[in-house]
Amino acid sequence: MSEADASVRRAVVADEADVSRVVKEGGIWRIRSLSAARQLLRARGQTTQAGFTAESIPKGHFRHHPILISDGPLHDEQRRKVGRFFAPEVVSQQYLGAMEECADRLLAEATASGRVQLDELALHYAVEVTAGVVGLTHAPVPAMSRRLVRFFNQPPLDRSRPDLGRTPRQWAQAAWNGLVPIAAFYVADVRPAIRARRRQPAGDVISHLIEQGYSNADILVECVTYGTAGMVTTREFIAMAGWHLLTNPALAQRYQVAGTQERLAILHELIRLEPVVGHLYRRTQDEVSVRDGDQEWTIPAGELVDVCVRQANADPEAVGPDPLAACPGRELPTGVNPTGLSFGDGSHRCPGQPLAMYETDVLLTRLLRLRPRLLSEPTITWDHLIEGYQLRGIEVVTTR
Ligand code: HEM
Repeated sequence: MSEADASVRRAVVADEADVSRVVKEGGIWRIRSLSAARQLLRARGQTTQAGFTAESIPKGHFRHHPILISDGPLHDEQRRKVGRFFAPEVVSQQYLGAMEECADRLLAEATASGRVQLDELALHYAVEVTAGVVGLTHAPVPAMSRRLVRFFNQPPLDRSRPDLGRTPRQWAQAAWNGLVPIAAFYVADVRPAIRARRRQPAGDVISHLIEQGYSNADILVECVTYGTAGMVTTREFIAMAGWHLLTNPALAQRYQVAGTQERLAILHELIRLEPVVGHLYRRTQDEVSVRDGDQEWTIPAGELVDVCVRQANADPEAVGPDPLAACPGRELPTGVNPTGLSFGDGSHRCPGQPLAMYETDVLLTRLLRLRPRLLSEPTITWDHLIEGYQLRGIEVVTTR
């Protein structure tokens, strides 16, 4: 069977090159070898964040640099401090109950009509669960979800150009599309939460940031990060994993009888196959050398490097034969994470992975118990900021 025959990947970009494993193309270094990508992402102190338009964000305005776009020892320190909210044991001990309650309630509401709009349900669920951890508990979830989704409505980017290929008009549009929902998010969600936590700390991320002396503007930026990096990404993955399980009866059956570790292994394989964030970008600050097999490349300082996550995650040298098939528990060499690079690697590696995975598991386990049947397949569109898929219109009828 050829590689293409064995593919069950749904989020496929037409004409996406997958030939050269490390190459400089159109002014950008592209890395599609998982091993070389990992070395680049782990080159501590030698690269800086260049994704999510980080290089166009003026950092001077912030007293504390935003976690997603900072680098160096202060960033390491920041991560160490927020790490305690996201460690796997913290997630399973502190947040599992709230996730279960939220999933049961939202599923009961959605199934009252017998039909579940899975992508909508996933959005409200992911926003509510993350909001609880962060401390954004002041506004109704559907309204906050709308504000976060609107933020993603951004014009396209051409990362090979210093102006990101946007005309002044498109930059103005990007600022408008981004700033209006952020202003609304601040007034309706973030400011009331800060006021309440200043009066009475509540053991959540916002209370922690206040304790660390963050200003309101600094806290807003962190909340936007958690809102977009945490809530919107998890929503897409829940819809994607649900779509795979609803259309693969053997996998769904295995999922339903499996224990927690095996269910998580299935989800890890699905997110390796269908990464939500398609590309990670770094700017080299020093010369960085990466090896792939017996070849070595030296990337000079000052270069933009694009880690192509979809291709790296399907690199047969790292993940073995049939890289585009869903084989939970596949044999992987030491050092290769079962999720590939779907949660990044190195100093910016996603701290929210355990939360996202448990969260997905809690909802899908409950959905599958309702003996769901797929009514309509989703449409796939692509987001410009994280270069990931967006699934919309996935409708399910429940029969129990
Ligand atoms: C399926 C869901 C998720 C996916 C696919 C995802 C993916 C990622 C990726 C790829 C990065 C690394 C970016 C880079 O290296 O440039 C990242 C960073 C981050 N994620 Fe997640 N994430 C998810 C869920 C979450 C959740 C639930 C939270 C927290 C509530 C979260 C919080 C963050 C934060 C704060 C960062 C920035 C870390 C840093 O730059 O040091 N993520 N995420």
